[in-house]
This record gives sequence, structure tokens and C-alpha cells, in this order.
Amino acid sequence: MAPNVSCLLLAVLFSAGCKVITSSDQMCAEKEANKVYNCEYLGLREIPDTLPNTTEVLEFSFNFLPTIQNTTFSRLINLTFLDLTRCQINWLHEDTFQSHHQLSTIVLTGNPLIFMAETSLNGPKSLKHLFLTQTGISDLEFIPVHNLENLESLHLGSNHITSIKLPTNFPTQNLKILDFQNNAIHYLTRKDIDSLKPATNLSLNLNGNDIKGIESGAFHSKIFQNLNFGGTFDVSVILKGLQNSTIQSLWLGTFEDYEDQDISSAMLQGLCEMSVESINLQKHHFSDFSSTTFQCFTQLQELDLTATHLKALPSGIKGMNSLKKLVLNVNNFDQLCQINAASFPSLTHLYIKGNMKKLDLGAGCLERLENLQKLDLSHNDIEASDCCNLQLKNLPHLQCLNLSYNEPLGLQSQAFKESPQLEVLDLAFTHLHVNVPQSPFQNLHLLQVLNLSHCLLDTSNQRLLAGLPDLRHLNLRGNRFQDGSIPKTNLLQTVGSLEILILASCDLLSIDQQAFHSLEKIHLVDLSHNNLTGDSIAALSHLKGIYLNLAANNIHIVSPYVLPILSQQSTINLSHNPLDCTCSNIRFLTWFKENIHKLEGLEETVCANPPPLKGVKLSDVKLSCGITAVGIFFLIVFLFLLIILFTFLVKYLLRWKYQHF
Ligand SMILES: *[C@@H]1O[C@H](CO)[C@@H](O)[C@H](O)[C@H]1NC(C)=O
Ligand SMILES: *[C@@H]1O[C@H](CO)[C@@H](O)[C@H](O)[C@H]1NC(C)=O
Ligand SMILES: *[C@@H]1O[C@H](CO)[C@@H](O)[C@H](O)[C@H]1NC(C)=O
Ligand SMILES: *[C@@H]1O[C@H](CO)[C@@H](O)[C@H](O)[C@H]1NC(C)=O
Ligand SMILES: *[C@@H]1O[C@H](CO)[C@@H](O)[C@H](O)[C@H]1NC(C)=O
Ligand SMILES: *[C@@H]1O[C@H](CO)[C@@H](O)[C@H](O)[C@H]1NC(C)=O
Ligand SMILES: *[C@@H]1O[C@H](CO)[C@@H](O)[C@H](O)[C@H]1NC(C)=O
Ligand SMILES: *[C@@H]1O[C@H](CO)[C@@H](O)[C@H](O)[C@H]1NC(C)=O
Ligand SMILES: *[C@@H]1O[C@H](CO)[C@@H](O)[C@H](O)[C@H]1NC(C)=O
Repeated sequence: MAPNVSCLLLAVLFSAGCKVITSSDQMCAEKEANKVYNCEYLGLREIPDTLPNTTEVLEFSFNFLPTIQNTTFSRLINLTFLDLTRCQINWLHEDTFQSHHQLSTIVLTGNPLIFMAETSLNGPKSLKHLFLTQTGISDLEFIPVHNLENLESLHLGSNHITSIKLPTNFPTQNLKILDFQNNAIHYLTRKDIDSLKPATNLSLNLNGNDIKGIESGAFHSKIFQNLNFGGTFDVSVILKGLQNSTIQSLWLGTFEDYEDQDISSAMLQGLCEMSVESINLQKHHFSDFSSTTFQCFTQLQELDLTATHLKALPSGIKGMNSLKKLVLNVNNFDQLCQINAASFPSLTHLYIKGNMKKLDLGAGCLERLENLQKLDLSHNDIEASDCCNLQLKNLPHLQCLNLSYNEPLGLQSQAFKESPQLEVLDLAFTHLHVNVPQSPFQNLHLLQVLNLSHCLLDTSNQRLLAGLPDLRHLNLRGNRFQDGSIPKTNLLQTVGSLEILILASCDLLSIDQQAFHSLEKIHLVDLSHNNLTGDSIAALSHLKGIYLNLAANNIHIVSPYVLPILSQQSTINLSHNPLDCTCSNIRFLTWFKENIHKLEGLEETVCANPPPLKGVKLSDVKLSCGITAVGIFFLIVFLFLLIILFTFLVKYLLRWKYQHF
């Protein structure tokens, strides 16, 4: 009888003590205490009193502030960043920011500005970034120029501006970015470009303006970092206009729904009369694509021909010895040899991703690219039963190879022998068939990053990762382990140099306590999105100071014996677990409060049990598991019964003893 009584007693004790204390939500979200606040989409008509005077970064988009006065922000004198996107601002009055000496970024995007007072930007002496995108501006005289000496970027996209000519007193000396995209600028004169002086090394964005003409000599001896003339109907107009200029990077691409002229070799002649390092011609059609097309490309270091409907690059291209980076994404090659790689002997970076057809790697198509360091072949439906030594022959300096998102690849041992310098190998989302017991990655002495996520690997192959002495970052996301368990001896034993290990979404149910014992340098373990219970934490007992992600697992109770293991880590994510908030988990709940600074994702770290606390944040739960009045009553009754039972027992024993004398 006694055990039954005590069960009842315990049940009463445990259910009696649950009390919830939830703090009321603040209006603006605090991103960093006393400094960073987000008040977006709150329909506010003023700066709320709850914001501290010390606020430095304020995101205040999508509220309602039709007029801004000198009093509006006067309290927040330490602002450095202010985002007022779409607050229906019409008026900016005098001295709006007069005490805001630290303010360096003001975002006024999407406000129908009618008036900006001459002194409205007077205070922020260090203003660096001003966003006036979509504000209805048609005339640059509208912008108050006082105090803009330190301005580095001015964003004027999607307005009604017809000329880029800056007012004569406009301070341009520190200007780096001038963004005029999607305005109504059709003509550039010599005076326009002269007005940008003394800014040098400027990035000028004229994307989506359909430039129809440039005055001859307008760009003579001008130097630009970036020039963007995207979406121009006739690129030859631009190239002629840029004569004698020096441009780091020239963007001449177009867009899907644009009607523009196909590019002929003659239209590219202007390129011979200027100095450009990098050019982008994405999405154009070529009318006479041949080796002559490349005639004025010989000084280029970077060429981007993304989605230019290419089936092959012509043979007989000459003089492309400067080209370092070639981008051929989203074209229509059948076979890798069709790019005629030998024409670009100095290439260090080659990108062929998202090919529109299934790409056949052929044999040795890139073997002349001895200097190649980075090769991206992702999203190409590449299929090979025995990859990759024949296909990627002679790439001795290759450091980064991306074969992610392809069709099944068969790998033999030492499958990347031709690229012994590999540092990064990405095979994510490509099914791998490893048909040999040895490691396909053997002898990649410099490999640091290996992405094997969603590769349908045979993880029971303990030699799979052998021969990778420098591997630091291993991603095994989405691969499965036999019986959902990582055993004591496993494929991680050969990679003791790991620092980052991703084992998310591996359907794991358990991890052996010794499974990670060879990993001593690790500082990040991601075990999120599995079915692990709290006991799996024991596998981390020898690790200290790591970032541990245990989000979205099956953790109900965290036993007291693993709490010291959690305590010695630096950051822990326990969000999205079915956590138990009853007194049977009180040790953990107390630990949680004491270690709250180590936990991230607190908003999503909520109770699943008991039902009245379901969905309540763990940080807000206050549980008192002491003995209540009812508990004391039952305890006394229980003790009383116990004493009676004991006396009866003693009496009975004594009687029995006497009877047997
Ligand atoms: C503004 O910042 C300065 C320097 O960090 C500090 O001394 C001052 O107290 C701050 N003022 C307010 C109102 O937060
Ligand atoms: C704001 O401007 C008004 C009128 O110009 C002036 O009287 C007032 O002192 C200013 N307020 C602050 C906080 O500067
Ligand atoms: C914040 O600044 C305002 C105006 O400068 C001042 O009246 C107020 O007392 C300050 N609040 C705090 C908490 O310091
Ligand atoms: C030009 O600007 C770019 C970045 O905008 C910078 O990396 C480069 O060093 C600058 N060049 C000169 C000559 O100032
Ligand atoms: C380009 O420079 C050359 C040589 O300095 C000069 O003769 C020519 O007129 C210039 N072209 C333009 C359009 O300024
Ligand atoms: C490889 O390509 C994929 C898809 O294009 C991309 O998401 C991934 O970041 C690339 N990997 C590396 C290491 O750059
Ligand atoms: C594979 O992992 C590397 C390293 O984290 C990462 O840069 C790359 O983007 C990942 N690849 C894909 C396809 O996500
Ligand atoms: C993992 O947990 C989820 C949700 O709790 C469940 O649907 C799934 O069947 C579990 N998987 C295994 C392998 O037990
Ligand atoms: C916690 O982990 C989950 C799953 O990986 C992730 O979605 C979430 O962003 C993480 N929380 C934080 C604050 O980083």
C-alpha cells in the first residue's frame, strides 16, 4: 500500500507548483540592448517613449511620419543609422538632425518627398550614405547640399531624374557610389561627367535608363571603378561614348523582357578604344558570334557571358592571355570541350554552372588550364560512372571544385588525384557511389572544406574520409546512419583536425558516448533537425567552448548529468525541441535561467509540456517545485501512515519472536 500512497503524493506535489510569468511584449524589437531597435510595420506616428536615448541603430520603416521636425528625433542624439523607408514622409523641416553628429546613414526610400529644408541635413557632419530611392525627385537641386562633404554613397534610383549633372556646389570629393538606376536619363554630356569631379574611382549606376547617346569625348581620361549601363538598347552607343576612359568593371548586361539589339562584332569595336578590366554581357544575343567577337577583349581580365545562348566558343580565338576569370553560366553546351578552354591559357577562375543541357565532361577538356584555381560545375546534370581523374585531367593548381547539384557520380579511390592542391570540394546534392573500400578523397593533403550534404553516402564505410589530414569543415547534412545511430567506431575517426561538423537532418536517434572522441579541435557541431534526446549530449563531454546546435530535435528532459557538459560550451541552440517544463526537469530549467547568455533562439525555445505551459518561452517560465500546503498535508498523512505501519510491524515481529522462544 505504501508505494501507491507515495505516487499519489508525488503527483500532487509536482502539479501544484506550476506558475507562469510572461513579460509583456515591447513594441519595438530590441536587437541589441540600448543600441539597436526595430520598429518596422507598427503604424507608429512618433518615436515611442520606450526607445532609450542611447539608441544608435533604428529601423523605423513602414510607419507614419508625414512631417519630420527638429523635435522628432531630438532625443536620440546618438543615432548612427536611421531607416525611414515608406513612412509617407512629405516634409523634412529645418534642423531635423541638428544634434545628430554621429548619424552616418539615412534611408528615405519610398517616401513621397515634397520638401527638404535647406538645413534639414545640417547636423550629421559624418553623413556617409543617403538613400533617396523612389522619392519622386526629378531635379538634383532638390537635395540640400550643406554638410554632405563626407558623403560616400548617394542612392537616387527609381526617380524621374533626366540628367546626372550635379549642382556646381555639390560636394563629391568623397563620393564612391552614385546610383541613378531606373530614371529617365537618355543622354550624357561632357558637362554631366565633368560635374562628377573631383570624385575619382566612382561607381556610377545607370542601369535601366536606356542611354541613347553620349557626347563624344565625355569620358575622355575619366577613371571609374564601376559603370553600369544595364538594359541599353544599343551597346555600341555606350562603347563609343566611353572612348579613352579607364574602367575597372563595366556592366553591359540586359534583362529577360528587354527588347534590344543583338550584339555584332562591329558593335564591340569601341572596346578597343578604352581600358576595361572586367566586362559583363549577360543575357545578350550575339548576331555573328565568332573569334572576331573576341577581337577587342584581349586586354580583359574578366569576362562574363552568363546566359548568352552559347552552344560553343569558337576555335581560333587569339590573344586572350590576360583573361583570368571566365563566366559561362546558363548556356547551352553539350560537352565541356566546346568551350575551347585552350584559348584562355591564363584562366584562374572558370564558372560553368546551371548549363541548360546535360553537360558531358568529356576527357581532359580543361587540361590546358594549368593555372586554374577555381572551377564551378554545379547544377549541370553531370553524370559519370567513374569521376573525375580523366575528366578533370591536369589541374595541378585547382583549389576549389564545385560539383554540387549534379547527377550520380561514381568515385573510385583517389578520385581527385589530378588536383592535389584542392582546398574546397563541394559535392552537395550529388549522389555519390563509392564502389571501393578506400577513400575517394585520399591524398588531398590540403583539403579544408568538404561538403557532402545530401550525397546519399554509405556512412558505414569507416575509411570514407581517410587521408584528409587538414580537413576542418565537414558537412554531412542529410546523410543517414545505419539505425539512426552514430556508433563508437565511425567515419569521423580519421578526421581529427575537424573544426566544424554539420550533422543536421541526418535522422539521428542516438550518438554513442565515444563517437566524437577523436575530434579534439572542433568548435562547432550542428546536430539540428534530428531525433536526438537529451542523452546524446553525453557524446560531447570532452569538448569545451563549442557552438552547439541541437535545435529541432526530440529533447524533452535534459538529465542533470549532462548539464555540466552544456555549461562548458559557449553557445547552445535548443530551439524547437519538445521541452518539458514540469518539476521533473527542474534542474535543467534552473540551469537554463542561469546560463541564458549562452543560449540562442530563445523566442523559439518553448515548453511542450505540461499542456498549460505549451508554447511558453522557457526563459519566462517560473516553476516552484517546493512543497505546498497541500503537499505538506499529504506528506504528514504519509509519514503518519508510515509510523503506524512501522509500529504494527515491530509489534508483529516482537510477538513472533516471543512465540518462537
Ligand atoms: C551618446 O554617446 C556618448 C559616447 O558614447 C555617451 O557618452 C553619451 O552618454 C550618449 N548619450 C546618450 C543620450 O545616450
Ligand atoms: C525647433 O525649432 C523651433 C522653431 O524653429 C525652435 O523654437 C525650437 O527650439 C527647436 N527645437 C529644438 C529641440 O531644437
Ligand atoms: C532623454 O533625453 C531627453 C531629451 O534630451 C530628456 O528629457 C530625458 O530625460 C532623457 N531620458 C533619459 C532616460 O535620460
Ligand atoms: C577604387 O575603389 C575600390 C572599391 O570601391 C577599391 O577597392 C580600390 O582600391 C579603389 N582604387 C583606387 C585607385 O582608389
Ligand atoms: C582619345 O585620345 C586620343 C589620344 O589622346 C585623341 O586623339 C582622341 O581625340 C580621343 N578621343 C576622344 C573621343 O576624346
Ligand atoms: C557551389 O555551387 C552551389 C550552387 O551553385 C553554391 O550554392 C555553393 O555555394 C557553391 N559552393 C562553394 C564552395 O562555393
Ligand atoms: C557546402 O559547404 C560550403 C562550406 O560551408 C559552402 O560554402 C557551400 O555553399 C555549401 N554548398 C552548398 C551547395 O550549399
Ligand atoms: C523523428 O521524429 C519525427 C517527429 O517527432 C517523427 O515523425 C519521425 O518518424 C521520427 N523519425 C524516426 C526515424 O524515428
Ligand atoms: C537555431 O537553430 C535553428 C536550426 O538550425 C536555426 O533555424 C535558428 O536560426 C537558430 N537560432 C539562432 C538564433 O541562430
